[in-house]
Amino acid sequence: MDSILIQGGVALQGKVRIQGSKNAALPVLAATLLTGEGSLIKNCPRISDVYAMVSLLKGLGCSVCWQENGISIDASSVQRCEIGDRAVTGMRSSLCLLGALIGRCGRVVMEHPGGCVIGRRPIDLHLAALEQMGVAFQEEGGKLRAEADRLCGAHIVLPFPSVGATENVVLAAVLAEGDTLLEGAALEPEVETLCRYLKCCGARIEGAGGGTLLIRGGRRLCGTEFAIPADRIVAGTYLFGCIGAGGSVFLEEAPWQEMGAVLRLAEDMGGRICTSREGIYVQAPCRPAAAGCVRTAPYPGFPTDLQSVVLAVAAAADGESLIRETIFENRFRVVEELRRMGAVIEEEGVDVVRVRGTERLRGARVESRELRGGAALAVAGIMAQGETAVTGCQYIYRGYENICRDLRELGARVTSA
Ligand code: EPZ
Repeated sequence: MDSILIQGGVALQGKVRIQGSKNAALPVLAATLLTGEGSLIKNCPRISDVYAMVSLLKGLGCSVCWQENGISIDASSVQRCEIGDRAVTGMRSSLCLLGALIGRCGRVVMEHPGGCVIGRRPIDLHLAALEQMGVAFQEEGGKLRAEADRLCGAHIVLPFPSVGATENVVLAAVLAEGDTLLEGAALEPEVETLCRYLKCCGARIEGAGGGTLLIRGGRRLCGTEFAIPADRIVAGTYLFGCIGAGGSVFLEEAPWQEMGAVLRLAEDMGGRICTSREGIYVQAPCRPAAAGCVRTAPYPGFPTDLQSVVLAVAAAADGESLIRETIFENRFRVVEELRRMGAVIEEEGVDVVRVRGTERLRGARVESRELRGGAALAVAGIMAQGETAVTGCQYIYRGYENICRDLRELGARVTSA
């Protein structure tokens, strides 16, 4: 069941509830290691990255139980601090276990989380920050060993607002001795969600949501009940899917407050957007207008995770679009697949592509090679005339609970094969 069949060219009509956020859930699941009691994490998305994280937590000694409304995790009996090789190699987002385990056990052994299709994904910022807190690292035989005799608070300035490095510093700092002042922190909403979870557990964190965080360490944390917010990238995927395919849809629980740059671009491309407490209503234009010049950037800039989806919609827009990717060095892999569907895309340098909109994309057999590129191919498929088969969908299931179900609820003709 790793391919999707789409009969495209049908305008969308309908509503869909947006799932819990992958990039919020993963660091919160890692943070449950820091409490001596159980937590219930509600609205946790049922996606393969979460399943992989859960298996890592179980391997460390956590007791885990999926429930109707979420997942309960109790880390009180965690003894181990070595993370199984296989799982980590396959999943970059387990990197946030580094900070959590350093905070909990004072040592970690894990396989060096390598790069992936979209980039080398170095961890120098993580290591430099944690070294300032007293962590010593050794890299040998593909393994990363971390040890801290005394984990101490520090004044850390991140030269780039790395989401993962920010999360690892927060996770290590809440149980460290003394205070940690973190400047240059990532502003992504997922960082604020992590801080909110930890504060519900009793942590003292000031400045959550801003670029300077003060984490007062040393407090024993309790368990809590916590709800993961909706996924802004999944919401943006379906929002641009509607802009490209036409029609009108309602995205229940879509976190529009975190989607300013996304909504502005959707309106620039001709969408009519209405937001309410319940979510986002989108009315598509007859044909999307060109995206103009789009530049991905750290939050609150346009999110890199929606760049491929915008590329797909721009491929059938009225006019030329210029897309510049500033976060990851290899995030245009989906271009070759979109060209198979008739897209006219020229690479102008390593980080810029020029898209000349064509009247209509044509269905084709295409392969997804990573999560967000795969989602973009599904969007291209609902826009295209004819049938599209998207293979390699195991990548899509890393971040989308059930993209076929969701797109069908929006009126698309999609089946999984
Ligand atoms: C998080 O990745 C997200 N993943 C990514 O989502 C997202 O694209 C990214 O943030 C940017 O918003 C999760 O939250 C699990 P970074 P992360 O550290 O933390 C460089 C998805 O599709 N860098 O902010 O790895 C790095 O190479 C995924 O859901 C260093 O150079 O992102 C990249 O160019 C993809 N050294 C840039 O910073 C470091 O030590 C942004 O990385 C760390 C990062």
